[in-house]
Amino acid sequence: MQTITTVAELRHVVARARRADKRIGFVPTMGYLHEGHLTLVEASRAQTDVTVVSIFVNPAQFGPNEDLSTYPRDFLRDQELCRDAGVAIVFAPDVQEIYPTQFETFVEPGELAKPMCGAFRPDHFRGVVTVVGKLFNIVQPDVAFFGQKDFQQCAVVRRMAIDLNLPIEIVTVQTVREPDGLALSSRNRHLSEEERRRALAISRGLFAAADKFRSGERDVEQLIAIAKAHLNTVDRLQYLELVDADTLKRAESSLRRTAALCAAAYVGSTRLIDNVILPLS
Ligand code: PAJ
Repeated sequence: MQTITTVAELRHVVARARRADKRIGFVPTMGYLHEGHLTLVEASRAQTDVTVVSIFVNPAQFGPNEDLSTYPRDFLRDQELCRDAGVAIVFAPDVQEIYPTQFETFVEPGELAKPMCGAFRPDHFRGVVTVVGKLFNIVQPDVAFFGQKDFQQCAVVRRMAIDLNLPIEIVTVQTVREPDGLALSSRNRHLSEEERRRALAISRGLFAAADKFRSGERDVEQLIAIAKAHLNTVDRLQYLELVDADTLKRAESSLRRTAALCAAAYVGSTRLIDNVILPLS
């Protein structure tokens, strides 16, 4: 495994692999890797020849009062996990390499970036699609892998790739959970034992609604109410929304198309998100 920190060297190494007819898979991350990230790596290894993982805590996607400075980091451990998982290249640039002093050009997402997380984190998705666009141009992968846990992120990135004519296939990988249902997240490490117990309400609420959906419930208000009933142990529910899986517009009255039930909540000072898909053909 190679660890590369500059754009120039990364381009050079990937170009060599491409000349050897290798298919390039890419997994963008902000590090502090867990089984969720490693499942994306596994999917990439299964579908491509060379897997590139980027580890870059992207300042552009954090608001001024968000957790950029306390975002968990452990680069040595991340490298070991990547090596053990069969990653070929770790790309770990510093902030100057990605955002040199005179940097001023951003990718602007549209309507998909406005509801849910976008309403509470202004400019978050602008930061995400800007860095993902840059990383796509640097790595030039054939396929890139994203986790369903960040459902809105998947939608915004997929749209960006289409709108900017990027010849990259975007693959979404199912959310990896703890045995009790809690979605894995780098931020879980900030939870105390007691907070972790209360955080479980999020996945429990979503699962309860998904169960009711599977047994035939289609009423939007009912499904939201079922999830909400579980959510009284979180400290602050930011949103709980049932949205059309393609447009992310709020579902109305009775579900007729595949929808996603999405939640964001604070437990203590940790912000957690999760979602379940309610599939309809
Ligand atoms: P990060 O939070 O590190 O997540 C990197 C990738 O891992 C994302 O595609 C995310 O959806 C996926 N992931 C996280 N937890 C997961 C879980 N429990 N199951 C499955 N996949 C999971 O998302 C980002 O970084 C950044 O916004 C990034 C795309 C790297 C741009 O900076």
